[in-house]
Amino acid sequence: MRGGTERFTRSFRDDAVAPSLVVLDPLAGREQDPRSTIASALNAIAHGVDAIYSRHRSPFSDAVATESLRTMFRVLPALARAPDDPLARTDAQWASLLGGIAIRHAYVGVHHAIAHALVSHAGVPHGIAHAVTLPTTIGWHLARLPATESTRLADRLPVDWEQALRAAAAAVNLPPSLREAGIDHNALGALAEDAFHDRGTGNEIMTISREDVSTILADAWSGHASHR
Ligand SMILES: [Fe+2]
Repeated sequence: MRGGTERFTRSFRDDAVAPSLVVLDPLAGREQDPRSTIASALNAIAHGVDAIYSRHRSPFSDAVATESLRTMFRVLPALARAPDDPLARTDAQWASLLGGIAIRHAYVGVHHAIAHALVSHAGVPHGIAHAVTLPTTIGWHLARLPATESTRLADRLPVDWEQALRAAAAAVNLPPSLREAGIDHNALGALAEDAFHDRGTGNEIMTISREDVSTILADAWSGHASHR
């Protein structure tokens, strides 16, 4: 939920707002802006990865997130080539649904916390905030998670995950860095502070510091994958 004049994003969860029925129609939304289609696909991948290293994860959320990631990475090149293709959209919608179920059970992490801050403070659309920062946040987690956790994440990603994400984003002209998305470097401090206090940051299996959030944001601004 996004505030009106107060520029904040708050997430909340309650069974009362969980859908009782979801209809996946690959023909609906075929005229959707290709940038929005790919940004949404990358948002779904962000749901899958956040669910993998969440402290609230379970065998159920793991299984659902794993299948979501496998399906979305498989279809991503075809979707980027033809965002209106019904077969590609069918797989992407299924992967998106699974990603949503995964975070419904495991909740999101610092990646979403940063995306929320970008939406609230910089007016970046939700999907684009994910698309620009995802290579950095995945790279940072692979480098910083405890070894067994990093291996769990790596096992659920294709070897060329970074290239796959960047190629899909480039195919529809999504910016490769926060700098190229128009974010002022001077805004990174306030963004880091906001993301640090976002509920998602505390959901991770490891403790995330203010400096960690600042590092991720600085690398996302430059467009680095944050392999450190
Ligand atoms: Fe999301």
